[in-house]
Amino acid sequence: MRIVTSPAAMQRLARQWRRRGARVGLVPTMGYLHQGHLSLVRAVRRRIGLEGKVVVSIYVNPTQFGPKEDLSRYPRDLKRDLRLCRAEGVDVVFVPDDAEMYPGGNPKSEIRNPKSFSTYVVEEKLSQGMEGASRPTHFRGVTTVVAKLFNLVLPDVAVFGAKDFQQAAVVKRMVRDLNFPVKIVVAPTVREPDGVAMSSRNKYLTGELRPQARVLWRSLQLARKLAATAGQTVPANRVKARIRQLLNGCPNARLDYVEFFDPETLLPVTKVQRGTQMALAVFVGKTRLIDNAQL
Ligand code: PAF
Repeated sequence: MRIVTSPAAMQRLARQWRRRGARVGLVPTMGYLHQGHLSLVRAVRRRIGLEGKVVVSIYVNPTQFGPKEDLSRYPRDLKRDLRLCRAEGVDVVFVPDDAEMYPGGNPKSEIRNPKSFSTYVVEEKLSQGMEGASRPTHFRGVTTVVAKLFNLVLPDVAVFGAKDFQQAAVVKRMVRDLNFPVKIVVAPTVREPDGVAMSSRNKYLTGELRPQARVLWRSLQLARKLAATAGQTVPANRVKARIRQLLNGCPNARLDYVEFFDPETLLPVTKVQRGTQMALAVFVGKTRLIDNAQL
């Protein structure tokens, strides 16, 4: 397994692979890998075959964090990540450096430097609601860094986790709109035995907070039950009220949003039924968790 830190070296290597006809698969991550990430690695390997080259990128991308978010304390453990990647048969771990990804420094802190990075990729429809409404510059950072990773790794296939449903939809739209020659695969969410979706941010959930994180899974289950038993449709507001009630019973949980929406346009629906897509974001203590499911 090779570790590549220079974007230029990554692109050179990817071009070499492609000249030799090797298929390339990419799993973009921010590190602190868990079983969810490893399931993405297996999904990409299945698609590109044993002869293909699997690249895992590990980069805590500053431009997708808001000014009051957890960029500086985002969990990191590169040594462990590398061990996990090696055990999964990853070919290259790409760990780019901030200064090279964003020439002139982190564009957020260096806005007065006229020579610093100043080009973004912006998706303007699917990125507006839910995560985009709560974290206004988040998706601009995601689409920009994912576009850069695609240009550096030149993948045939890239795999994203279904836990970030809206992110996957925004990336797919970017790929379609800007003609990136890459197939996007969305792999299912991996859950802990108690239903909590695996996330690097679960590390923040110490002591009594961890069991309270179950409230997201319980909300999805509650909505599923209401949608199934009503037979036809239930007003979205009624389901939202029941979820708020459920959250009121959790002393350290605060609802950021809960939404029911069309899985393609991400536009909210007013009636919930089996098959409706649901997503929610909840603060458990200071940690913001997200989850989603098709009911
Ligand atoms: O889902 C993530 O971990 C990140 O948003 C991604 C896709 C690696 C971009 O930084």
